[in-house]
Amino acid sequence: MNALITFIFSLSFFSAVSLLTETGAAAAEKDGVYIVYMGAAASRKGSLKDDHAQLLSSLLKRKTNALVHNYKHGFSGFAAVLSAEEAHSIAERPGVVSVFPDSVLELHTTRSWDFLKYQTSVVIDSNPNSNSSSTTSDHDSGAIIGVLDTGIWPESESFNDKDMGPIPPGWKGTCAQAQDFNTSNCNRKIIGARSYEADDSSVIKYHSPRDMIGHGTHVASTAAGSEVQGVSYYGLAEGTAKGGSPGSRLAIYRVCSSHNGCRGSSILAAFDDAIADGVEVLSLSLGAPSFLKPELTNDPIAIGAFHAVQHNITVVCSAGNDGPTRGSVVNAAPWILTVAASTIDRDFESNVVLGEDKVIIKGEGINLANIQKSPVYPIIYAKSANKTGVDEDESRSCNPDSMDQEIIKGKIVVCDQDGPYSPTEKKDVVKNLGGIGVVLIDDESRAVASTFGTFPATVISSKDGAKVLSYINSTKNPAATILPTTSPTEYKPAPTITYFSSRGPSTIPKNILKPDIAAPGVNILAAWLGNDTAEAPEGKDPPQYNVISGTSMACPHVSGIAATVKSRNSKWGPSAIRSAIMTTATQTNNLKAPITTDKGAAATPYDFGAGEVSTTGPLEPGLVYETTTIDYLNFLCYYGYNISTIQIITNTIPDGFTCPEESSIDLISNINYPSIAISNFNEKAGRKVNRTLTNVSKDDKTVYTVSIDAPAGLDVQVVPDKLQFTNNGQKSSYQVSFSSTNPLKKDVFGFITWSNGKYKVRSPFAVSSKSGN
Ligand SMILES: *[C@@H]1O[C@H](CO)[C@@H](O)[C@H](O)[C@H]1NC(C)=O
Ligand SMILES: *[C@@H]1O[C@H](CO)[C@@H](O)[C@H](O)[C@H]1NC(C)=O
Ligand SMILES: *[C@@H]1O[C@H](CO)[C@@H](O)[C@H](O)[C@H]1NC(C)=O
Ligand SMILES: *[C@@H]1O[C@H](CO)[C@@H](O)[C@H](O)[C@H]1NC(C)=O
Ligand SMILES: *[C@@H]1O[C@H](CO)[C@@H](O)[C@H](O)[C@H]1NC(C)=O
Ligand SMILES: *[C@@H]1O[C@H](CO)[C@@H](O)[C@H](O)[C@H]1NC(C)=O
Ligand SMILES: *[C@@H]1O[C@H](CO)[C@@H](O)[C@H](O)[C@H]1NC(C)=O
Ligand SMILES: *[C@@H]1O[C@H](CO)[C@@H](O)[C@H](O)[C@H]1NC(C)=O
Ligand SMILES: *[C@@H]1O[C@H](CO)[C@@H](O)[C@H](O)[C@H]1NC(C)=O
Repeated sequence: MNALITFIFSLSFFSAVSLLTETGAAAAEKDGVYIVYMGAAASRKGSLKDDHAQLLSSLLKRKTNALVHNYKHGFSGFAAVLSAEEAHSIAERPGVVSVFPDSVLELHTTRSWDFLKYQTSVVIDSNPNSNSSSTTSDHDSGAIIGVLDTGIWPESESFNDKDMGPIPPGWKGTCAQAQDFNTSNCNRKIIGARSYEADDSSVIKYHSPRDMIGHGTHVASTAAGSEVQGVSYYGLAEGTAKGGSPGSRLAIYRVCSSHNGCRGSSILAAFDDAIADGVEVLSLSLGAPSFLKPELTNDPIAIGAFHAVQHNITVVCSAGNDGPTRGSVVNAAPWILTVAASTIDRDFESNVVLGEDKVIIKGEGINLANIQKSPVYPIIYAKSANKTGVDEDESRSCNPDSMDQEIIKGKIVVCDQDGPYSPTEKKDVVKNLGGIGVVLIDDESRAVASTFGTFPATVISSKDGAKVLSYINSTKNPAATILPTTSPTEYKPAPTITYFSSRGPSTIPKNILKPDIAAPGVNILAAWLGNDTAEAPEGKDPPQYNVISGTSMACPHVSGIAATVKSRNSKWGPSAIRSAIMTTATQTNNLKAPITTDKGAAATPYDFGAGEVSTTGPLEPGLVYETTTIDYLNFLCYYGYNISTIQIITNTIPDGFTCPEESSIDLISNINYPSIAISNFNEKAGRKVNRTLTNVSKDDKTVYTVSIDAPAGLDVQVVPDKLQFTNNGQKSSYQVSFSSTNPLKKDVFGFITWSNGKYKVRSPFAVSSKSGN
């Protein structure tokens, strides 16, 4: 294991706005902040604690100001300014699991659409059709959700604490008194607020839980916002906003800033505090870029989440926005609940009307413009507006400095969406040249509404684009208009899995199926900063609620549901909650057809894990797959860590635990996870995996029978095919055998469902033949 693997950590927000420049691997060898990870906080013998204290005091003797963070509640270690040499030498010390640089680098992405700003983020959203007061979950006392993000705008109406009971007596967190933030900004909804800044001495510091970006406020209100009526985005998507678990409390940990990004050292400090504070669910809408694939022991989220889960905290993370590339999922450790993003049934429509026949072309985009509704404006294809000396290949995409102002002025301009510029950048180009409006042809952005302010702008599909271009070609004086945006619901099909959502299979670790679940992450309306004048369309007040997209928006939907499940079943551990969420997921859309990707292909578990999250199913799953500490220890053994390293990582090793004699990556398939992934499948040998179910229902229907949906070419047998539960909390096991007569040509998928006539407990599986897939 290379202790000095470069680790890049950022919220996609930062990559998109390109505040930081790439410094790359060189950073790893320089002096800087390193994270020294020393496993669990206290061992039975206390020796680890001694190692920690010794190491720190010897370091501080030499360098008094070196310490950045000291981790001691949930786990042991510290972040400090070290030379590469010191880092190497500390890595050799007893009790040290890993030492790795605390880098915040730029994500190098070719995709810079605006929604990607909100990398890993999601919601509850306003719903015009819901009779919210009739939903029982409103009356739950809820749980405590910790949010690691960009902070909070506490004055938002979504964080009012009307009707909330007193702060739970076990709560040990604090509300910071800081710049722009008073202790009085906390209430019975926001019960904690802390801020972390890692200091590498080179950047501006803003040490406050106050959100200056919006992402954290959006995410927090999605997870646990109070009910607020009459919320909209300038009249669009109007309805009642409320979080996934409106009865839950929020504990805010600000770990990201626009200057510093999201530092691993800050994230670990927040985990360390959250564990001691007493949160019950942690929501992280952030992660490493997918190309990094950090080792588990060099990944702050994997490390922090491991210890949080050991303390019975459910950790929910976004899967990343690097889809649809295969294998792009991040935050894929088996103790994390990993969330993909889906669309909802609300559209933001801004349609184009063409010519005398008033042909309507459907467009997507949010603009608050108000031009004439009849097609009276000349429309032109940007390709034919290239300025002297510039190739039409430049101008057709409406790139900056490519079009002739005299031609553009007073016209609606049609642009192709090739090249590096985002829809809003192109809108600005056309606007600045005196254009009247812009129609972008782009299949990807068509799915995710861009925000265009008050300028008439919309995005259409390439299929419709061909129609528009051929109309322009067919007449001497082509004319059009762009209609104001409306937000119709019951858009079909929904949900679909959006293209940007990161995809499985997981490569670290192999043999765990990821992502786990999908939730709404496209065009989500939730709370925002109160004073974001930069986001305000011309002549409008800053938005109090904003519409953004990302797996960041999907994650807190699931965090909210996890909190509701926890509040109804206080004895359930994180794995029971995760199982309940996964086994009750749905796989059909609002056309009663299988859920697809936004390109129309049937969604596979690599797209959406167990499926689209259900808000009611997880409250009563019937049976759950509990993943025990022993499962996680076995996982670490199979993954390749030796028992001495595992002993340092966790202090919960039961007496007598040793790594199984046969340890292989393939055996990871055997840990008691609610889904099954098998890689390196060999048709000659076949494969067997075991699973154990635990009865959690009050029902006396005791017999569950299995049904199997196996893909062509794969034989799947389950033994036994009936399970009987006669006691509360009783466990029953079964074995699944996979075999085939011919080699698999591609990855195949299916599912296994246990049912007692009332509950359906469904697990997806994925089988791939080549290792590394
Ligand atoms: C909401 O409640 C009202 C009054 O009970 C009822 O008339 C209406 O149909 C309900 N709407 C929905 C969407 O259930
Ligand atoms: C914090 O309290 C001070 C003193 O009461 C007040 O002037 C300030 O506006 C408050 N700040 C916030 C962010 O509420
Ligand atoms: C986690 O929850 C289980 C079940 O409620 C309990 O037995 C265990 O002691 C808890 N562990 C911690 C660290 O709180
Ligand atoms: C526009 O681009 C085309 C194709 O490259 C070129 O032939 C034409 O001269 C360009 N127009 C102007 C005004 O430069
Ligand atoms: C427009 O018409 C010209 C000439 O007839 C043709 O070459 C071109 O391909 C047409 N373009 C489109 C987009 O239909
Ligand atoms: C918004 O409010 C914060 C906190 O008071 C302040 O620091 C920031 O400058 C304000 N931003 C704008 C755009 O006014
Ligand atoms: C366990 O692995 C660590 C890290 O690779 C190594 O330093 C250590 O010597 C190993 N211990 C044993 C007992 O093999
Ligand atoms: C799986 O279950 C079978 C049948 O109950 C049992 O023989 C086998 O030892 C189990 N394997 C593992 C790895 O637990
Ligand atoms: C399952 O456990 C519940 C309690 O969790 C118990 O009430 C119920 O009777 C059990 N079911 C069976 C069939 O034993």
